[in-house]
Amino acid sequence: MSNTKVAIITGGSKGLGKELVVDLVKEGYSIVTTARSNEELNNLKNEISSQFNREIQTLTGDLTKKDDVFAFCEFVKEQYTSIDVIINNAGFNTTKTLTETTEIAEMEKQFAVHAMTPFLIYKSFVAQMKSANHGYIINILSDQVRDRTRGGWAAYSTTKHALYGLGKVMISEAAENGIKVTNAIIGGMNSTFRNEAREEYLLPTDVASVIVQLLKIPKDIFIPEIIIYPKVYLTK
Ligand SMILES: NC(=O)c1ccc[n+]([C@@H]2O[C@H](COP(=O)([O-])OP(=O)(O)OC[C@H]3O[C@@H](n4cnc5c(N)ncnc54)[C@H](OP(=O)(O)O)[C@@H]3O)[C@@H](O)[C@H]2O)c1
Repeated sequence: MSNTKVAIITGGSKGLGKELVVDLVKEGYSIVTTARSNEELNNLKNEISSQFNREIQTLTGDLTKKDDVFAFCEFVKEQYTSIDVIINNAGFNTTKTLTETTEIAEMEKQFAVHAMTPFLIYKSFVAQMKSANHGYIINILSDQVRDRTRGGWAAYSTTKHALYGLGKVMISEAAENGIKVTNAIIGGMNSTFRNEAREEYLLPTDVASVIVQLLKIPKDIFIPEIIIYPKVYLTK
């Protein structure tokens, strides 16, 4: 068991999640993360070990499967009795298609990763956070939940809206016990998520640096929502 602060980050193997892992390791946090690619998780572990001489805990799993989410929560509990930070980051967006041609299976998978997983993780850890009167939960959302909902993204938009709603409920229920929850709405970001990089979009390193700042705000400040956009969103 460790005395350092513990952060759970879903989808920490690449993109924004990986930058969050690196930044929080630098801040001294113990990290537990999960993703489907065992190879990328092992590469991440090796990178953290060689660069920072630190171990992180990883579990390979597919968050579209409830049993894998439960296994991840158990894995965390086997190693740590208390959790300080949860970052619901894992996400994907594979198909651009009209709502009527959106596969039912695609909607279900995105719902499982974007909404059901954060719900199950919350259920697993909130009692401990409430009894400690402490904790920070950050939900990684998309511009789709705000002013940039577009046709063609039924599964992504619907399921990110589901997390947005769940996040608002968490904000209201958890504050009583000193737990902070931030819905982080993020604009276009150059990660492995998109097929082609766009020069004008956000860098995962920059977004991670903003998210990490949230964890350092004074105890009595609550930031329920934050919007992180690239300049191009405001100028065009
Ligand atoms: N990129 C953007 O433009 C953008 C904009 C706004 C918000 N976001 C959000 O930012 C978050 C991070 O995305 P990113 O851009 O950093 O994408 P990314 O580079 O593709 O990283 C996504 C992470 O989620 C994991 N993941 C995806 N599906 C999973 C599953 N079924 N089970 C377990 N892990 C899974 C991936 O690992 P595996 O593939 O190995 O499973 C990876 O670690 C997402 O929630 C995304 O919706 C992205």
